[in-house]
Amino acid sequence: MTSQETIAIFDQYVIGNYRRFPVCLVSGEGSYVYDAEGKRYLDLFPGWGCNLIGHAPPRVVQAVSEQVSKLIHVPNTWYMEPQGLLAKALVERSKVDAQCFFCNSGTEANEAVIKLARLNGKPNGRYKIITMLNSFHGRTYGALSATAQPKYHKGVEPMLAGFQYAPFGDLDAATKLVDNETCAILSEPIQGEGGINLPPAGYLEGLRALCDQHGMMLIFDEVQTGMGRTGTWYAFQNYGVEPDALTLAKALAGGVACGGLLAKRKYAEKLVPGTHAATFGGNPIACAAALATIDTIEKDDLLPRAAQIGAAFQARFETMQKRTPLIQQIRVKGTMVGVELSIDGTPIVDACLKRQLLVNCTHGSVLRLLPALNLPDDALQTACDIIEEVLLTTKPV
Ligand SMILES: Cc1ncc(COP(=O)(O)O)c(C=O)c1O
Repeated sequence: MTSQETIAIFDQYVIGNYRRFPVCLVSGEGSYVYDAEGKRYLDLFPGWGCNLIGHAPPRVVQAVSEQVSKLIHVPNTWYMEPQGLLAKALVERSKVDAQCFFCNSGTEANEAVIKLARLNGKPNGRYKIITMLNSFHGRTYGALSATAQPKYHKGVEPMLAGFQYAPFGDLDAATKLVDNETCAILSEPIQGEGGINLPPAGYLEGLRALCDQHGMMLIFDEVQTGMGRTGTWYAFQNYGVEPDALTLAKALAGGVACGGLLAKRKYAEKLVPGTHAATFGGNPIACAAALATIDTIEKDDLLPRAAQIGAAFQARFETMQKRTPLIQQIRVKGTMVGVELSIDGTPIVDACLKRQLLVNCTHGSVLRLLPALNLPDDALQTACDIIEEVLLTTKPV
């Protein structure tokens, strides 16, 4: 089918709740994807952060192919090797005495952790959770209520009770919200959808101390930052601040749907049979894919690559900043790259697409790149050349 034929089917049969570019993708390899007409695109935003080791990563392809011919799905009433091995791999790399729960997405992982926080807080009458303005935690009601952005609540209120919001980076504001009903603080260590907002020095440490002081759980949403994206398995390891629980999804299984929750054993034990479940959670295909993702990152030594890629983007954008007033601020941590523009980023994204480069814009004016850890150097430079050309030919308003 041509791209236009597929788009025509979508127009008639698929609900229009996504803004889609008029391109139909059919295959991918590494940091490149191909459309139905064979046109190649360089992808600096592979799978919205899910394809952290590129498209069609060979070890993941092989692991899924092997697993699918053995066992596609069995429910969690049985033991299965891939889920056990994945839990062990994730816990060992966290260096925290934790246990795992598996689901299929980031929002589900956050639903699980919200329940876990309440299950731990309820015996002492605590149920409130503090989250941060401009956060993003997902689209189901618990995670959406935790997401402190009114634009996502509009029209579907009322939200779940018990969430209070503080500006990201403002420790005093978070401290003022704490009362004897607060059971947890939930934050992304680096805000992703909110614009690649890095935590100010001492902020995460301050949240840890605040939680310790009041007996609250500190929870990090590592759905976007986790699995090596920032150069360590988990972003918290960059800051030396250990959470009581963290959530994962996106890159966890190299692009296969998989979500997870790691919680310190003393909190995790509140999730007893009957409290929570996910039919497809921890299924053998997703777990085999996740194990192959971890294997790839380790065998190809990709963790140090995150910092190299980040430094290369930082250097190129700093040079561009001297040549155009459009760049206001550059925020980089590993392969999380945010460039705050003085204008709406939509025309920049469209102009890059015309040049067969895929990038993202978030929060109206932040150019966001979440490139693969195995993005080759020449592709990185080509991408920067294209972005530079687009920025230099765009008029500031
Ligand atoms: C930090 C964070 N948490 C949660 C989510 C929700 O994940 P999902 O779309 O898999 O439900 C996202 C998605 O962008 C995210 O960036």
